[in-house]
Amino acid sequence: MDRILIEGGVQLSGEISISGAKNACLALMPAALLTRQPLTLTNTPFLSDINTMRELLASLGCEVAGLQNNRIITIAADKISNHIAKYDIVRKMRASILVLGPLVAREGKAVVSLPGGCAIGARPVDIHLSALQAMGADLELKEGYIFAEATRGLQAVDYTFPVVSVGATENIVMAATLAKGKTILRNCALEPEIKDLCVCLVGMGAKIQGAGTPTITIDGVSELTGNTHSVIVDRIELGTYMLAPAISGGEVFLRGGRIDLVESFSKMLSKTGANVTALDEGVLVKGSTDGILPVNISTEPYPGFPTDLQAQMMALLTLSQGTSKLEENIFENRFMHAPELARMGANISVEGGTAQVVGVASLKGAPVMATDLRASISLILAALAARGQTVISRVYHLDRGYENVTSKLSACGAKIKRISS
Ligand code: UD1
Repeated sequence: MDRILIEGGVQLSGEISISGAKNACLALMPAALLTRQPLTLTNTPFLSDINTMRELLASLGCEVAGLQNNRIITIAADKISNHIAKYDIVRKMRASILVLGPLVAREGKAVVSLPGGCAIGARPVDIHLSALQAMGADLELKEGYIFAEATRGLQAVDYTFPVVSVGATENIVMAATLAKGKTILRNCALEPEIKDLCVCLVGMGAKIQGAGTPTITIDGVSELTGNTHSVIVDRIELGTYMLAPAISGGEVFLRGGRIDLVESFSKMLSKTGANVTALDEGVLVKGSTDGILPVNISTEPYPGFPTDLQAQMMALLTLSQGTSKLEENIFENRFMHAPELARMGANISVEGGTAQVVGVASLKGAPVMATDLRASISLILAALAARGQTVISRVYHLDRGYENVTSKLSACGAKIKRISS
């Protein structure tokens, strides 16, 4: 298994290009199932999660082609030859559940493996299922699979999501594009990736209003067409790399980064002392020269502080000049990076959904283990600032969501390399 080696203590200087958003792409790709015509996505990130979705769509009968080093992906779902999303693929990635809504909407049937547990919490799919049921789908859970059927098609519904869920909002918006009548979805998630999906669906002929607001209205149509759509920039990758000069010192320009997508995070980062400037073509971040200030954060659905940046922010706060409190409100088991950061000398205590981080003067390189996607990158950030060498194992977690980490960071002077074993 590959490992990443980092010699810390180097101030960063340079530029990092921010890729297309993994989470947007993972919702856009299944939208291809809604039409017989090809859907082309540009600005797609090169990640193992995207490959998993390609594999899943291909297993359903889609033709999937990658162009220009997979920066462009075309998916043609002319014929859907299989309605079963198998456990072998679905278990690798929870976002596989996003084929359920489109398959039932277009084909009237789908069999999708339950995504099961996940390292960062139980993460059920009950809301996806209850919304589809409200649209008239018959559902049965058998042997770890969801069997869904809507022989006469899906019906429009006025549905209020009991919990704000990104995935459920995406799944049901897609399903509603082909349902009979006007669907009104309330308490929708507001994440920019949902708006990006809706823009693409509208380009495919869907009638959607209110994307990016809590109430989305969809007038069902009988069929959708193909489209070409550019994937929105990855706000989580942006936030992650904004933290790199903040923790290791120096100055980095994040090309293509959009500050409007990370406002609550960016405000917090500024409070820690980093200097953040929005420029025409990206975001410039300078690390503080007067030390890092502690802050308290509380994760919330968008536009609040994202859970997907909590681990990375914790890495920064381990070196602050005081005590910070981090409250995790989205996932119940999302502090697995804390014991790994502690191996590097961080002072963190976790109680339930709250972590208290008492800043230390310095971190020391150590062998550490990546436990999930965002935890992995938090260890890299910490290692950039630590004295000596850090060796990170289980970096396959990183490949799910961060493209070319080693080359992006070494272009800014970081001493980082990947070794295969
Ligand atoms: C998406 C993102 C993930 C991010 C998360 C929260 C993708 C591919 N993944 O995940 O990176 O961390 O949003 O911003 O876009 N819930 C239920 N029942 C359900 C669905 C969700 O109880 O049927 C709960 C979850 O357990 C969690 C909360 O709702 O506590 C939010 O989860 P959700 O927004 O659905 O996350 P994902 O879409 O899985």
